[in-house]
Amino acid sequence: MPTSSAHPLLLRIVDDLAGPGWSQQSIFLPPALTAELAAECRARADAGELTPAAIGRGGRQLVQEGVRGDYTAWLEPGQCAPGDAWLALMESLRQTLNRELFLGLEELECHFALYPPGAFYRRHFDRFRDDDSRTVTVVLYLNEAWQPDEGGELRLYLPGGRAHDMMPQGGSLACFMSASFPHEVLPATRERLSLTGWFRRRADNPLDTL
Ligand code: OGA
Ligand code: MN
Repeated sequence: MPTSSAHPLLLRIVDDLAGPGWSQQSIFLPPALTAELAAECRARADAGELTPAAIGRGGRQLVQEGVRGDYTAWLEPGQCAPGDAWLALMESLRQTLNRELFLGLEELECHFALYPPGAFYRRHFDRFRDDDSRTVTVVLYLNEAWQPDEGGELRLYLPGGRAHDMMPQGGSLACFMSASFPHEVLPATRERLSLTGWFRRRADNPLDTL
C-alpha cells in the first residue's frame, strides 16, 4: 500500500496501475474546470486550430479517416489558465506515479481531441512501432451529461478476451499502461471532446536521435 500523502484519487490510480494496469475514475475533475477546458477546446475548434489527427510520427504521418476521424490540437504550458491547472494536476500525478511505482516518467504530451458525430478511432496501441517512450495514457473527458445511448465509449481490450467500455462522461478519467492495452473509440451520435495525454519516458532508441 502506498504510504505517501498524495491525494486519495491519485493513490487510487497508482493502485490500479500497479494491479490490473488500468483505471477509471468517474469523478476526477470538478465540473467548473471541466467546463472551462471544454470551452477552450470548442474555442480552438471554432478558430480552426484543430487539425485532422494523423497516424504515426515524424516524417511518416498519415491522415487516415478510415482509422481515426478526430481533430486535435496540442495543449502547451502557458496557453490558457484551465490548461495550466490541468497540467499542474497531471504533474502531481506524474510525481506520484514515479514515487510509488518508479515509472521514470519524464514528461507529458497532451492534446485536445474532437470527434465529430460518427467519427471513431479503430483498435490500436498508443505506442509507435519505432518509439516506446509513451508509457502511461490519460484521457479526460469533457462532455457534459453524456447519455449511455449516445455511444462514443472507449473500449479497452483486457487480457483473456474481455473488454471494458467507458462512457466519455465529463470530468471522468481513463488511465492505462500504454503498451499493455489495445483500445478503440466507438462512434457517437454527438460531438465528443477529450483531453488526451501520454506520460513519456526518455526514448532509449538511438535511431530516434538521427
Ligand atoms: C487516442 C485514444 C481514447 C479516447 O487518442 O489514442 O485512444 O477515449 N483516445 O478518446
Ligand atoms: Mn489511443
